[in-house]
This record gives sequence, C-alpha cells and structure tokens, in this order.
Amino acid sequence: MTLVAPSILSADFAYLGRDIVMVEQAGADWIHIDVMDGHFVPNLTIGPDVVKDLRGETDLFMDVHLMIERPENLIPVFHQAGADLITVHVEACTHLHRVVKMIKELGILAGVALNPATPLSSLDYILTEIDLALIMSVNPGYGGQQFIPNAVEKISHLRQMIDEREAQLLIEVDGGINHQTGESCVRAGADVLVAGSYVFKSADPVQAVQTLQRINRIA
Ligand code: DX5
Ligand code: ZN
Repeated sequence: MTLVAPSILSADFAYLGRDIVMVEQAGADWIHIDVMDGHFVPNLTIGPDVVKDLRGETDLFMDVHLMIERPENLIPVFHQAGADLITVHVEACTHLHRVVKMIKELGILAGVALNPATPLSSLDYILTEIDLALIMSVNPGYGGQQFIPNAVEKISHLRQMIDEREAQLLIEVDGGINHQTGESCVRAGADVLVAGSYVFKSADPVQAVQTLQRINRIA
C-alpha cells in the first residue's frame, strides 16, 4: 500500500477546511501543505497562521513542504502551528545539516527536497540524518504541471542508495502525479505520492485517493 498525501494547493482556498475534511474522510494518509514565498519560487501561498487553523480541523499527519528561502527563520513557527514533518529544499539551504538538525531537535520529522535538475549526490552526506527525501517531478511553484519523466530514474537510483546504506527514510514524489505516473514512481521505489490536481480536480476525489493508495511496488 502506498501512502497518499493530497496537496491542498489544488483545493478551493475559500473552503480549505471543508476540502481537507473531505480527503481525510476519503482515507488520505497525510495532508501536503505547500508553502511558497515569492522568492525561492515565483508563487505565494500560505503561512503558519493558516496551518495552525487547519490543525484544528484535521487529525491528518501534516506534511509541510517549505519552498522558501532561509527556512530556518520560519521552522519554529511552522512547528508550533502543528507540522508533523517539515521538508526544506537543498537549493534553499546554505547550511543544510544545521537546518535538518534544527527540525529534528523540535521532535518532528525532517525531509529534504530536490528540484528536478538537482543531483542525488547532494544527499550523500545527509542521507542517514533525514526521515524523508522529496523528489520533485515538476519545477516547484504551481499545481497542475506535467510530470518530468526522468524523476522515475532518479527515484530508482535513490532507492538503490538507501538500500546500499541501509538508511531509514521514505521517498516522496511531488508534481504531476496521476494513476500512470504514480505507478511508475512506486515501482521505482517511491513510498509517498503527493497529488494535487489529480485528487482535488477529480470528479471523484475519494476514488482518486484510493486508486493511488492501491498501487503496489511489485506488478
Ligand atoms: C508544486 C507543489 C506540489 C503541487 C502538486 O510546487 O510542490 O505539491 O501542489 O500539484 P499537482 O499534483 O497538481 O502537480
Ligand atoms: Zn509540494
């Protein structure tokens, strides 16, 4: 069974609470929250106050994806707001090791995200310190973009690296996930599928969540 994290970026922002309750009732495993600062990525989305209020609406595991510069400045407030996992971008952190340590010291899970053109070697010296690696399969900034196919090969190489080092971390993939691309990613070794438009723009979001959850590693 694959873990599914619907991304609220594709939800209706006028009815965020309603949409989260809907995917929670659909059996989603996590909720994925995309935080953008207008600098690291061209778009602006939500801040810690929104996350705090959503925490009051759902018991779902909150997966907070920070697409922001200087994430160390905001990690404590996102933790206080109720994040269960905070993921930072390797491209946004000069002192990645320090930032990961900061998240872990707060007692929550730490993830590291890689943009499509960022090599896996940037994880070499942090792999055993993190709980999750997020492979971006689109350039971050917007929902509804097309999946970049070489993410699949990147996931298989990462799976190999993890197995060789006997490291304990999840592989998450984010961007352009639907039933087909999701299946390729899970077969390559992904544990968690983030899906925005495939879930929230679907005529049947419950079915969309369950379709992704049913994808198995082995055909
Ligand atoms: C992109 C975000 C994604 C986005 C995915 O910058 O990190 O989480 O919401 O949306 P879809 O699934 O529509 O590509
Ligand atoms: Zn995301």
